[in-house]
Amino acid sequence: MTLLPRLLAHKAEPHLRAATAADAAALALIHAGSFHRGWGADEFERLLADRAAHAHVLTYGAKGAPFAFVLSHVVPPEAEILSIAVAPDARGKGHGAKLLSYHLGRLACEGVRVSHLEVEATNEAALHLYRRLGYVETGRRKGYYAGPGGAADAVVMRRDF
Ligand SMILES: CC(C)(COP(=O)(O)OP(=O)(O)OC[C@H]1O[C@@H](n2cnc3c(N)ncnc32)[C@H](O)[C@@H]1OP(=O)(O)O)[C@@H](O)C(=O)NCCC(=O)NCCS
Repeated sequence: MTLLPRLLAHKAEPHLRAATAADAAALALIHAGSFHRGWGADEFERLLADRAAHAHVLTYGAKGAPFAFVLSHVVPPEAEILSIAVAPDARGKGHGAKLLSYHLGRLACEGVRVSHLEVEATNEAALHLYRRLGYVETGRRKGYYAGPGGAADAVVMRRDF
């Protein structure tokens, strides 16, 4: 994209919607920019085709490409967040909170009563986001995440609706 359309796209209001199979490549791109081990477009296609998968995205304008997504595996009354990410240049502007809050509202309409997740203990931004939206820590898994900087604990969290 050249600079002008990019600037105009960023002026459009962030728009929330359910993800579709056509978003797989865009979600893979956001994921690759957010995690050590990226999931490919084929992985997202497979995940989005699963009836238990519920995913939402944020786009700039109703027709823009996604710049943030959240994906849960849902078997009411339980749900588990499999992944959430905001494109690096859009972080710290409230998009993650807006997206997760919308997602949880939609899950509540589907009969979900509890949302579970696991997060790396060193991931301050994610921990802050989850606590702010009402998640509480229920346990820890020692050395669960292997990364370039060594093993990190996983914090297990839940949010009751
Ligand atoms: C975690 C993530 C989704 C948050 O999205 P975001 O759009 O940057 O978050 P928001 O701007 O909505 O901020 C939500 C809250 O977290 C806080 N926060 C954001 N970045 C932070 C940081 N780096 N350190 C501490 N707090 C932070 C904000 O201040 C805000 O809290 P407040 O309302 O009390 O001020 C985003 O950082 C991301 O995509 N990270 C990479 C992928 C990832 O780690 N996903 C989670 C895996 S479990």
